[in-house]
Parts: sequence; structure tokens; C-alpha cells
Amino acid sequence: MRLILLGPPGAGKGTQAKQLARNLDLAHISTGDILRENVARGSDLGKQAKDFMNKGELVPDELVNQMLIERLKEPDTKKGFILDGYPRNLNQAKALDEILKSMMMQIDLVIDLDSSEAVIIQRLSGRLVCRRCLANFHKTNMPSKKDGICDNCGGQLYQRQDDKRETIKNRLLVYRQEVSDLMNYYRQNAKLKRICADEDVEVVLNKIIDLVKNYSDASPDSKRWG
Ligand code: AP5
Repeated sequence: MRLILLGPPGAGKGTQAKQLARNLDLAHISTGDILRENVARGSDLGKQAKDFMNKGELVPDELVNQMLIERLKEPDTKKGFILDGYPRNLNQAKALDEILKSMMMQIDLVIDLDSSEAVIIQRLSGRLVCRRCLANFHKTNMPSKKDGICDNCGGQLYQRQDDKRETIKNRLLVYRQEVSDLMNYYRQNAKLKRICADEDVEVVLNKIIDLVKNYSDASPDSKRWG
């Protein structure tokens, strides 16, 4: 199963992708996480990406596409994968098809996590992330047991630089500029499914699992739904 999770910032792509990857035994590929990791260790890629990210702008396609090619070469992707945060525009969607074609692969399903602006702003402005294991928390929706400390690994929780209110607004603007072409692209090849992502994490997760299962049941070639 090769799955794309689309949706605005804060729709819950990362939260859902982490759980799905565990439940369905798939690799989780988050371009945002890979970029943040590069920024944190000061790599060349990180240095080039940092300003774009802090302003809530997209990192140039050539950099992100190359990064994705490298990630797809890793062995864990053989079992299938979930893309979270990629593609972000039509150009990336077309590049992805070319990349996968050259690897004799294709996307099975694209799920759009539809979310309202009020929910997005509430989620992003309260999000906390673990510096060490990248787990997601939320000040009120999903608080950690100990203030500022990750439940999973004891790492320090921090607020992402791009989760400041002004940057959130710009990220939403950028998203809206790109989204219709992207959705039209996936609507054309009938791979796109949309669900409301404003509900509880478990509810959204179960809806996604149902879509994956329906897809697999309807595709005789599909080796797994999980
Ligand atoms: P990226 O990290 O991909 O950010 P994003 O797409 O803006 O998405 P977020 O991570 O903000 O939100 P999410 O949908 O994953 O929500 P989450 O699950 O965390 O990208 C960051 C930057 O990197 C970009 O702006 C760009 O600069 C660059 N970049 C990345 N990919 C790129 C690409 N392909 N091309 C170019 N540039 C790229 O949830 C948010 C919060 O809500 C959490 O606190 C969570 O606990 C909570 N929550 C989640 N679901 C629920 C729920 N159902 N109920 C209650 N709370 C919930």
C-alpha cells in the first residue's frame, strides 16, 4: 500500500501517519520531519531550507524532490509507505509519479484530511513536539503527563517556529494557493478520497483504515490492506 495523506497544516497528517504506519506496518515519510532534522543538524539542505520553513513558504521543489528520491531508496519503503507533507503542489505530484514510475511503483490511494480553519488554528497554536523522538502533543487536546516532557522518551517538548500565529496564516495561504491544482490532479485519476478530519484522532484513524481496507478489498492485486 502506497498512500498519500493530503490536507492543510494542522489537519492531523503527522498524527494519523504515525499511527497508521504502526497499525499497517508501513514506512512513514514526512518531508517536514526530514527537513526539520536537517535544519537541526545544520546540513547543507537544512541551511537552504531553514528560511523558507520559518516563513511558512514551500522549500524549492528541486530540493524536496531530491530528498524524497533518497528517502525512497531506504529498505523500509519496500513494504509500502505513507507520504505526509508531500506532494505540496502539482509540480511535486507529477515529479512523484515519474520517480515512482522509474522504481516500478505507483500511488494506490490519496486521502484528503479536510479540516476547518478554526480547528487548524487551535491545533497548531497548541502543538508541542518532542525534540528527540518527534512525537506530537497538544497543550489541551493531547497534553503530556509531565509538563514539557515527552511521554515516550523523556525528551524536551518545544513549539515549532512555524506554529506562531503569523506564520500559521502564511502557511494556510500557501496551502490554498496550491491545493486546487493538486486535488484536481488526483481527482482525475480517481485516487482521491476525502474525509472530515475535525473529529477525534481515533475516529479519523478508523475512517482512514476503512478507506484502505475498501481499496484493498476492491483491488485483487493488492497484497495487503495492513
Ligand atoms: P510540515 O511539517 O509538513 O507541516 P504542515 O504540512 O504544515 O503540517 P503540520 O505538520 O503543521 O500539520 P499536520 O497536518 O501534520 O498536523 P499534526 O498531526 O502535527 O512542513 C513544514 C514546512 O516544511 C512547510 O511549511 C515547508 O516549509 C516545508 N515543507 C515540508 N514538506 C514540503 C514539501 N513537500 N515541499 C516544500 N516544502 C515542504 O497535528 C497538529 C496538532 O493537532 C498536534 O498538536 C496534534 O496533537 C493535534 N491533533 C492532530 N489530530 C487531532 C485530532 N483529530 N483531534 C485533536 N487534536 C489533534
